[in-house]
Amino acid sequence: MLDPGKATDELRATVRAELPEAAEIRDPELRARVIEAWALALAASSFRAIAEIEPSGNPGVNTLKSGTQTDHIRGVTRLAIAIADQLCAQLPDLRIDRDVLIAGALCHDIGKPWEFDPRNRERWEGEPRRAGLPSIRHPAFGVHVCLTAGLPEEVAHCAAAHSGEGELLVRSLENTIVHHADYAFWGVARAGDLLIPESIAELKVRH
Ligand SMILES: [Fe+2]
Repeated sequence: MLDPGKATDELRATVRAELPEAAEIRDPELRARVIEAWALALAASSFRAIAEIEPSGNPGVNTLKSGTQTDHIRGVTRLAIAIADQLCAQLPDLRIDRDVLIAGALCHDIGKPWEFDPRNRERWEGEPRRAGLPSIRHPAFGVHVCLTAGLPEEVAHCAAAHSGEGELLVRSLENTIVHHADYAFWGVARAGDLLIPESIAELKVRH
């Protein structure tokens, strides 16, 4: 589980290097909390970098043939920024909080170090009726990470509801963009033959 004391400067530096888009967040406190949140999530896992996490939407599902989970997080973030900037240029009435959008995109999969951790997978797969398989999916665990790191509810909402869970509520404007960017990433990766064929589960996909 999360232990705020375990986030190290080494992990913060790793995350900062892995997610250069964080530098585009204008509010310095929000920017720092995004880095802190990822450092916290990694510190509570077997991973020492985002790039060590399997490059999939869900464990074993929609796995990139090459590249890393960092490519996914960055790709979704860049796509979300492009959607916002292009549509705001075309539609002047559109009011998007760019800081929340970038932070939300960078943090949408922040629960993956938990859900993808081989130690957790082994526990859950060995005894699925004890705590569940997984006990908590990455969107829900991501909320835990975001709120523990002091991120605002608007960002935690992107972790909570970027995926199928978002069908149970009304997504914010920024999270609507993150959601579509996320699904576009996997859809384009599939169409571009970037996914391992056996990992493609078209109708079962929950990112
Ligand atoms: Fe994602």
